[in-house]
Formats: sequence, structure tokens, C-alpha cells
Amino acid sequence: MDALKILIIPGSARDGSFNRRLAEFAARQARAAGQEATLLDLRALNLPLYDADLEALSGVPAGALRLQQAIQASDAVLLVTPEYNGFPTPLVINAFDWLSRIPATQEQPAGLAVTANKPAGLLSASPGAGGALRSMNFLRQYLQMAFAMVVVPQQFALGRAHEAFDATGALQDPRAVQSVETVLQSLARLAQALKTA
Ligand SMILES: Cc1cc2nc3c(=O)[nH]c(=O)nc-3n(C[C@H](O)[C@H](O)[C@H](O)COP(=O)(O)O)c2cc1C
Repeated sequence: MDALKILIIPGSARDGSFNRRLAEFAARQARAAGQEATLLDLRALNLPLYDADLEALSGVPAGALRLQQAIQASDAVLLVTPEYNGFPTPLVINAFDWLSRIPATQEQPAGLAVTANKPAGLLSASPGAGGALRSMNFLRQYLQMAFAMVVVPQQFALGRAHEAFDATGALQDPRAVQSVETVLQSLARLAQALKTA
């Protein structure tokens, strides 16, 4: 059986991002479970802020097509996002808004065609006690309602993220490790079931 392909997308691209660290930890755990985990850096997509005039002038940017191809090539997507004022980051929303604007052509399906029925999982992290939980609640709605993704019910918000990792990048609290594993296992079960259905 082919290894499941998990695309892991941190919602923050800054140096030292706790969410990127959590994404990297989740990738390690997924690989240890025999999956193929790929991290996608949203900043590297170089997407301008969505602007309908820009779209009319030059179409959807190449970075949005790269995001689409990465999602299409994966069996499941894991988003790992901070919250800004209780909301997912503009980096995530802008990338997915551009993705939603990709039209179907002879070369490629529509942006929304590759997200439909794609399994998704959510993690979040923040130095605050709430662990950016609110970002996941909005993101769950956004991905399900606008992108028809199938978001697994299990999710995990890592609070006090600045104290959570050891020098190797591993989570120190075994309960946090278990919570990440629970999300990954749930995502893998759904992805495997849909792959073989
Ligand atoms: C504009 C802005 C708004 C923020 N709002 C929240 C918030 O609502 N809740 C929270 O826990 N942290 C909030 N923070 C703090 C972030 O959680 C913190 O900067 C975190 O380190 C960002 O994630 P990262 O480390 O992955 O970049 C906010 C930060 C910024 C810049």
C-alpha cells in the first residue's frame, strides 16, 4: 500500500514561528507513522493580497497554482495556524482565497475542485493560554463551507507555545504529543478510507 501523503501548511512564515515548529513536529510524527509529510511555506508562494483588478489584469498568480498542485498531490492537508485577534492569519486566508479563484481550463481543474472532499486536520499554537483555538473554529467553517473539505472533528490548540518545545523541536508534554497524534491518526484514518473507497 502506498504511504499516505500529508501536506502540512503552517499559517505563519516568520522566523521562529511556534506554529511552524508545531507543523515540523507533526511532520516528524507523521513520518514516524509511515506517512509522507511535506511542509508548504506559504510565504514562498509570493502571493499578493487578493485584488480583483489585479486578477482581471494578470489572472491568478503562479503561487496559487503551486498551492493547488500541492493539495492535488496530497491525500490530506494539515493546517497549523496562529490566531490574529481571534481569526486565522491573512497569510492563510489570502492563499486560500486566491486558490478559490483558479478557473478550470484544459490544463488544470478549478481551485475548488481539488479541495472538494479532501480530508483536512487542524492544529494551532500561541504563547497565550488559549493556544489560538479560535482560529481553528473559524478555519473549520471556512474550509468546510467554502472549500468542501472534510475537516476531522479532532483538533488541538497548543497553549504557552513558547515553553512547549525542547531543544530538538519535540513537544515536552506527553499529553500534547498524544493530542497531536490523535489529530494525525484521525486524519490518516479518514484519508485512507477515502483513498480505498
Ligand atoms: C496582529 C496580531 C494579533 C494577535 N492576536 C492574538 C490572539 O487573538 N490570540 C492569541 O493567542 N495570540 C495573538 N497574537 C499573538 C500570536 O499568537 C503570536 O504572535 C504568535 O507567536 C504567532 O504565531 P507564530 O509564532 O506561529 O508566528 C497576535 C499577534 C498579532 C501580530
